Amino acid sequence: MSSHGTPIPMTSTPCGPLTGEAHVPGDKSISHRSLILGAMAVGETVVTGLLEGEDVLDTAKAMRAFGAEVTREDDGTWHVHGVGVGGFAEPDNVIDCGNSGTGVRLIMGSMATCDITATFSGDASLNGRPMARVTDPIALFGAQAVGRKGGRLPMTIVGAKAPVPVRYEVPMPSAQVKSAVLLAGLNVPGQTVVIEKEATRDHTERMLAGFGAEISVEDTHAGRVITLTGQPELKPQTIVVPRDPSSAAFPVCAAVITPGSDVLVPNIGLNPTRAGLFTTLREMGADLTYENERVEGGEPVADLRAKFSPDLKGIEVDPARAASMIDEYPVLSVVASFAQGDTVMRGVKELRVKESDRIDAMATGLRLNGVEVDEGDDWWIVKGLGHGNVEGGATCASHLDHRIAMSFMVMGMATQKPVSVDDGGPIATSFPIFEPLMGALGAQLSHQAG
Ligand code: S3P
Repeated sequence: MSSHGTPIPMTSTPCGPLTGEAHVPGDKSISHRSLILGAMAVGETVVTGLLEGEDVLDTAKAMRAFGAEVTREDDGTWHVHGVGVGGFAEPDNVIDCGNSGTGVRLIMGSMATCDITATFSGDASLNGRPMARVTDPIALFGAQAVGRKGGRLPMTIVGAKAPVPVRYEVPMPSAQVKSAVLLAGLNVPGQTVVIEKEATRDHTERMLAGFGAEISVEDTHAGRVITLTGQPELKPQTIVVPRDPSSAAFPVCAAVITPGSDVLVPNIGLNPTRAGLFTTLREMGADLTYENERVEGGEPVADLRAKFSPDLKGIEVDPARAASMIDEYPVLSVVASFAQGDTVMRGVKELRVKESDRIDAMATGLRLNGVEVDEGDDWWIVKGLGHGNVEGGATCASHLDHRIAMSFMVMGMATQKPVSVDDGGPIATSFPIFEPLMGALGAQLSHQAG
C-alpha cells in the first residue's frame, strides 16, 4: 500500500532477457538533503533530478510546514526559498513523514536547535522504528523529546532555546544519525564535532561544504572526525541530483540473474560510501562493467552495464563494506540465491531496524521460495542453488518496505514459478517508476495476487 492507501498485490512472472537502458530516478539521500539544506539557506535553491517518490515529497511538505517555500515547475525543476539557519517557523500541525526514516531523523535534527516545538508521525513502519538514536544526541544540545514507549513516533520535539555545541560519537554506523547531529549543529554557536567509527554515506558533509558551511573531516585512529562551525549563512545552490545507486541495484541485479540479459544503467553515482554492492557483485562473478567513467559534481559517475551471469558463486561479503551497501542486502540475497554455494553476510545488525527487519523479511520470503537461509542477530547466510534451480511460487510479505517488495519482484524474473508480494505499494516511496521501467526492459510484472 502507499503510505495512505490499500495494499497492491504484485506478481513477477519469469521472463525472457532484459535488454535496453534503465534510467533510474534521482538519489533519495541527496534529494532529502537538497530540500532540507535549501530550506535552511537564505534565498532560492534550484534542484533538478529530484526523486519524486513519496518519501521525498513528504520532506517537501515538511519544509513548507517549517516556513520554506517549496515549489515544482512542470518540467520537474524544484525551487526552495529558504528561511536561513535558525529561521524555521513552528508548524501548525503534525509533521507526517510517511515511511521515511531519513526524512524524520534529518528534520528532527534540523529543528532541534530552534526555539520551536514540532510533533512527528509516520506510517506503521516508521512509527515502529527507534528514534532514541536521534533524541539522545539532540538532548545534549538542549532539545527535549516525548514519544511513545521505546522512543517511538508519534513524538514531540521541543527545540533548545539556548543550544550548546556538542561532541558526539555516533554509536552505530548511521548516516541519518550523523546528519541529524550536524544539522542540529548548524544553529549552535561554536563547533559541533561528530565522530563516526565507520565511514557512512557522506552526502551531508559534502553538501554542507557546497552550501558554504565551514566543515572539516579528519581521518584519525578513532574514526572520521567531522567538525562543523555553527551559525553559518548557507548560500543557496543549484543542485543536479545524481541517479540513485540503490535504485540502480534492482535493474543491475535483475540483469545478472535473468538469462540472456544485457542492460545499461546510465549516470550512476559511484561514491565509495555507496557503491559496495557493485564491488560485491563483481566478486561473485557478475558480468558488470563501468562504462564512460567520469567525475561529475565532484563525484565519480559511470554507466553500468550488467549482463546475465550464469556462473555466480557465493562469497563471504567483507563486513567492512556493510555501510556502503546497507540498503542493497535484500536484493543481494536474491542474487545469492542464484549463485553456487553460500553467501555469508556479517556485521549487518542495522538491517533489523530498517523499514522492516530486512533479515527476517528476506529470509522468510526466500525460504518460502525454496532457498535455505541461516540467520543470527547480525549475520545471515543464503545457501545458493545455482542458476535455474530456484523454484519460486510463493507470496511474500513486503512489510511496508519498498526494498523488500522490489527484491522479490526481481527474484520472480528468474525463478521457475512466479513470485508475488502481498503489497507492492511501498515501491512508490523510492522508485515510483519501477514497474514501467522494469516492464520496458522485458520484465513481466502484474498487479495481481499470486
Ligand atoms: C540514509 C542512511 C541509511 C540508509 C537510508 C538512507 C541517509 O540509514 O539505510 O536508506 O540518507 O542518510 P541509516 O543511517 O539508518 O544507516
